[in-house]
Amino acid sequence: MDRIRIVGGRTLEGTISISGAKNAALPLMIASLLTNETLTLENTPRVADVGMLLQILSHHGVDYSVDGRKPGDDPQASRTLHLAARQIVDITAPYDLVAKMRASFWVVAPLLARMGEARVSLPGGCAIGTRPVDLLLMVLEKLGAQVAIEAGYVHARAKNGLQGGEIHFPKVTVGGTHTALMAASLAKGHTLITNAACEPEVADVAACLIKMGAKIKGAGQPTIEIEGVGALRGANHSVVPDRIEAGTYAIAVAMTGGDVLLERAPPDLFQSALDAICQAGADVAVTNQGIRVRRNGAGIAPVDISTAPFPGFPTDLQAQFMALMTKAKGRSRITETIFENRFMHVQELARLGARIKLDGDVAHVEGVAELQGAPVMATDLRASVSLVIAALAARGETMVNRVYHLDRGFEHLEKKLGRCGAIVERISGNG
Ligand code: UD1
Repeated sequence: MDRIRIVGGRTLEGTISISGAKNAALPLMIASLLTNETLTLENTPRVADVGMLLQILSHHGVDYSVDGRKPGDDPQASRTLHLAARQIVDITAPYDLVAKMRASFWVVAPLLARMGEARVSLPGGCAIGTRPVDLLLMVLEKLGAQVAIEAGYVHARAKNGLQGGEIHFPKVTVGGTHTALMAASLAKGHTLITNAACEPEVADVAACLIKMGAKIKGAGQPTIEIEGVGALRGANHSVVPDRIEAGTYAIAVAMTGGDVLLERAPPDLFQSALDAICQAGADVAVTNQGIRVRRNGAGIAPVDISTAPFPGFPTDLQAQFMALMTKAKGRSRITETIFENRFMHVQELARLGARIKLDGDVAHVEGVAELQGAPVMATDLRASVSLVIAALAARGETMVNRVYHLDRGFEHLEKKLGRCGAIVERISGNG
């Protein structure tokens, strides 16, 4: 198992190019199941979750190809995928595949919409809270499916096709909204979705579905209307830039100090995080190439944040922001409102000398003057990268174990940071 060794204390200077968003790429890839024509996705990040999903989709009958590098291409550039589900050969998504990646549960919607039946194992994935799928199943039922849970599998049937319906989400859910968009696009008649997730990745999936022939209005807002169509066609779509990756590096620069241009970072997609980063003492400037983040001299100011659905502060940046606050000059309060149990990074940050007290869904962080490198363990995707951020500013050496979590969602992390002057090295082997 690979490990990452970081020697802290360097400022970050240079340019980091922001990849396509993993959280958009995954549902977009799943949308390829909705059509028998080819869906081409540009700007797909080279992360382990994408590779895993390709395997899962090929199990259902998706043929795929990946464009090779052309002369002059940046070796770290994102890549183009061509996905063609000419024939669905299996409507069952087995436990051993779904357990590896929670988002693969979302195949239930296109399989059901196109084939009238799907059997999908209940999911596994990141160990954050219980992460139920009740609202996703509610969507399928509202669109006329019969849903049963049998031996750890969701068995959904709609032999005469799905019917449009009214879907109100009692809680904002990204996966629930993706499920509703995909299923309703091929349902007969009109669907109204209220309290939909407004995350940019939802809007990106809807934009792609529209190119495929879907009739969707209002995606990216809480009320979405869909008029079902009989079939969808192939399309070409470029994955939206990764606001979480951009926010992570912006926080890293705020932590270490320095001056970094985040190429192609989309400021409007993570404004709430940029505001918090500014309040913490970094300068943020929007240029036509991306976002420039700088922090010189002044220390880190404490900032209270509370996670919320978009456009609020993203839960996927909570751990990273907490890492920043561990070196703030004073106390901050970090409230997690989206997921229970999303504080697994706290005990590992404490190993680096952070002072954090947990009280239910609130973490009280008392900034310390200095963090000290130590061996730490990555527990989930976002928690792992928070350890990297802390390590970049810690005295001495930190060894981050179990980095496969990082590889699930961050493309070329050590290369991107290394190019900006950080001492970050991947050590292959049995860690
Ligand atoms: C997606 C993102 C994840 C991000 C999260 C919230 C992907 C691949 N993952 O996850 O990185 O942290 O959005 O922005 O895009 N819930 C239910 N019942 C359900 C579904 C969800 O109660 O059926 C709850 C969850 O437990 C959670 C909340 O709703 O408390 C939001 O979850 P959701 O938005 O669905 O997260 P994901 O789509 O799984």
